Amino acid sequence: MVLVKKIFIPCLGLIIASLSYNAVCGQAAAAPDEGVYTADQALRGGTAYQKQCASCHGSELDGVGPYPPLSESEFLSKYDGQPMLVLFDKIHTTMPADHPGSLTRPETADILSFILSFNKFPAGKTELPSDEESLKKLQLQKPAPKS
Ligand code: HEC
Repeated sequence: MVLVKKIFIPCLGLIIASLSYNAVCGQAAAAPDEGVYTADQALRGGTAYQKQCASCHGSELDGVGPYPPLSESEFLSKYDGQPMLVLFDKIHTTMPADHPGSLTRPETADILSFILSFNKFPAGKTELPSDEESLKKLQLQKPAPKS
């Protein structure tokens, strides 16, 4: 009996230690200032953006004529603090306005990455996902202004 106890307790310690290790690492991966897209993805998205979006929203994302800009604080404030899914769905279901519904989910994620990159959100090591569940968990948070 005594022997079993002695073995059991150190094992339990190990299990608890590994559990809390996972919890700490899991949190680090979701830190808000960590990039949520990759530089390559934004590059791909940029090519698609120039072909399919720039005619209305401008190659500098500043809006052409009556069309709204996709940069600057007014645009960002609208989506700040909301799940990434909101902006993703807006693009996926309503854009390009002259051909809505034509973008696949991965294409939408690429173009959204480009828009984030243009708006100075940091790039990271994992691509922006295109599935609803993951996009719901990501929050769009304006990067803190550099002082
Ligand atoms: C034919 C012109 C046209 C094209 C092409 C177009 N858009 Fe738009 N876009 C609009 C108009 C008009 C609005 C404003 C009405 C609205 O919000 O639905 C808009 C609004 C938006 C918004 C919301 C802006 C805000 O302030 O909330 C986003 C994001 C957007 N477009 C992204 C895109 C992307 C990405 C593409 C390329 C895949 C694209 N658009 C192509 C005309 C266009």
